[in-house]
Amino acid sequence: MEENLVDDLQAAQKVERAADAGFLWDFWYPAARSAEIRGRGLVKATLLEVPLVLGRTDGGAAFALRDACPHRGIPLSYGRSDGKNVECSYHGWKFDGCSGQCVEIPSLTSQDKLKVERIFAGHYPCVENDGYIWVYMNQGGRRFSDVDSGVPQPGENRRSQKAAATTERVGNVLSGAPKLATFSERYKSTHLACDLPSHVDQGIIGLMDPAHGPFVHQSWFWRSKKSIHEKAKQFEPIPFGFRMSTHSPSTNSAPYQLLKKMTGAPVTTTIDFILPNMRTEEIRSGKLWFSSLTTVTPVRRDLSRIDFVAAWNVPMPVTIFRAFAKTFLRQDQETMIRQAEGLQHNPRLMLIDDADRPAKWYFALKANLLEARRTGAAMVHPMDGPVTLRWRS
Ligand code: FES
Ligand SMILES: [Fe+2]
Repeated sequence: MEENLVDDLQAAQKVERAADAGFLWDFWYPAARSAEIRGRGLVKATLLEVPLVLGRTDGGAAFALRDACPHRGIPLSYGRSDGKNVECSYHGWKFDGCSGQCVEIPSLTSQDKLKVERIFAGHYPCVENDGYIWVYMNQGGRRFSDVDSGVPQPGENRRSQKAAATTERVGNVLSGAPKLATFSERYKSTHLACDLPSHVDQGIIGLMDPAHGPFVHQSWFWRSKKSIHEKAKQFEPIPFGFRMSTHSPSTNSAPYQLLKKMTGAPVTTTIDFILPNMRTEEIRSGKLWFSSLTTVTPVRRDLSRIDFVAAWNVPMPVTIFRAFAKTFLRQDQETMIRQAEGLQHNPRLMLIDDADRPAKWYFALKANLLEARRTGAAMVHPMDGPVTLRWRS
């Protein structure tokens, strides 16, 4: 009897994991560029396989609703916004954009007792940073979006759903959305995006991979395969991630040499990876600086998007920088398109030391976070302290 229960539980967890597709919930993800959400227009987006409709109130506040009417499920994006509420195209129910709360059901008569204000469309917290609409993909919004609708769903067991929602949210904190670090008042900035036909995990370990540079990013302006040499870099644990400790970057890259010549000061760089999906890089030399934030966002289990935003006060025109950055991104994208071709057949893969150690940390961080959320205990960091990794690149 007891064993059956355990089996059932394990089977349920397996189904859960399959449904989950290895996404990390309860984090902020960039859904769209701010500039795409204009006036009273409604824009579709997908994050973690959740269809969203994004819009803006007349006051300028961005909002994100689950793109499904809680009445019959038609996408709300077929409806229209009046600058405050979104009206469904099917029966005209109206929902407050910012809270998802139903404010009007046109078919009700004065005799009806239905409590309209207890019906909610799934809604997600939304903020704007660095020209992105960041949406907080809370676990609650994923499966329990209509728990409070007041309208029982067929076969719904409301009590157990609520209990599950409560336990799963232990230890989840809604903290601020990521923001690019800048170090002076005046600076230039730009952003780029590209789609990857892969699971977010592959995108992230590609992002943190130190050994592909000489093979994927061969360019006359950067480096050649011949410049490969042994490197030793120190890494240290940081909350939810790891840092390549502040150091002077590779001397085999021309742009760094140029920067050093310009300021006469040493060039230093710090690279962080932080869950769920973010890499930041800071390059400083005297008063000059360059800063970037890259995220790999799960759209579906087989589709991710890299968003890259950078700012700098080094004398470098935006057009030149974009040309270089686009080349890099395209090289990564082409490689990952080819990789996806191989991954279709589920080959066995390996992670080797030391070059793949950052990838191992990523998987361990992710597993430990999920475990901490499951048990309610503090998250265990996979690194004990600073460690030096050696590889050739
Ligand atoms: S389906 Fe949206 S109002 Fe009926
Ligand atoms: Fe790369």
